[in-house]
Amino acid sequence: MEEKKIIFSGIQPSGYFTLGNYLGAIKNWTRLQHEHNCIFCIVDMHAITVRQEPKNLRQRTYDSFVQLISCGLDPEKALLFIQSHVPAHAELAWLLNCYTYMGELNRMTQFKDKSSRHSENINAGLYTYPSLMAADILLYQTDMVPVGEDQKQHIELTRDIAIRFNNSYSPTFVVPEGYFPKAGARVMSLQEPDKKMSKSDENVNAYITLLEEPSVIMNKVKRAVTDSDNQVRYDIKNKAGISNLIDIYSSITGKSIQDVEKEFSSTGYGQFKNAVGEAVVEILSPIQKRFKELSKEKDYINQLIKEGAQKADSRSYKTLNKVMRKIGLYQVK
Ligand code: TYM
Repeated sequence: MEEKKIIFSGIQPSGYFTLGNYLGAIKNWTRLQHEHNCIFCIVDMHAITVRQEPKNLRQRTYDSFVQLISCGLDPEKALLFIQSHVPAHAELAWLLNCYTYMGELNRMTQFKDKSSRHSENINAGLYTYPSLMAADILLYQTDMVPVGEDQKQHIELTRDIAIRFNNSYSPTFVVPEGYFPKAGARVMSLQEPDKKMSKSDENVNAYITLLEEPSVIMNKVKRAVTDSDNQVRYDIKNKAGISNLIDIYSSITGKSIQDVEKEFSSTGYGQFKNAVGEAVVEILSPIQKRFKELSKEKDYINQLIKEGAQKADSRSYKTLNKVMRKIGLYQVK
């Protein structure tokens, strides 16, 4: 049997999860938890790199935890916790900041994108965001990081930091690999299909959240920007909107892109959009039902949050101590 790998991934509680989050990341997490040693984290400290309303952040963090379980993550199988509950993340992030070059951080497209969108608040945390992400991953000696395509650059940087540290001292960190889904790795905005679908988009028609009403989902898919050629054919360059819908449908149904094209070769966009909307409603409805039931179980959820923090805390200190020792920070045995 294949040896169990350590899997780590994180998600920001900066808004309600989108279909992009689900197809790009969470769907893989629910599958991987059965085969591997999985750790999933709600990265609230990453979320505060852009201004958050305290009351909303608190509520969304709780709701994020409930949403992960509603999506099928099982706290008996995977370790689920909130980043700020485990101090080793911030501690290792500081240490790794001292092994990360400004030249590397300057190249990060997420930083460039977020700093142009939040020009009134280009803070140091936004800039060093990738060192905290590297700390999240490297603390647990992670082998694989299941994420969407937008996180590729951050994972590359994490690898570079790990390799640099290992070479400067001695092997300390496992060098992790990114893990991306075949379909759904980059779900695009329904309104501007050359941009990724994002929970912080100002235009609510650009994204679908996991908790959206079926009628709203159907409407958003119907209104999705396409072209006038009325041929269901995958061509990212010239038909970005339709290609995005094909990708979403392929990810949900497991059908290949060619099979989707064939299935809708004689229908127009109207019928195809209907099928895509229905497929989305169908995968989201059990998630929504569980979310409604579970979010009322506050004591139970809080108990899971506490237990997750305790388990992650005790696992995280091993690597942190090792790093401190190698660097030469004075320790009393
Ligand atoms: P975040 O919160 O933006 O997104 C969470 C996960 O969802 C994926 N994703 C998408 N996939 C496909 N299409 C989209 N439109 C789409 N939008 C989001 C993301 O790729 C991600 O996998 N920096 C990370 C959070 C993080 C993390 C980590 C991830 C912090 N520490 C350690 C992995 C390991 C982020 O902002 O994700």
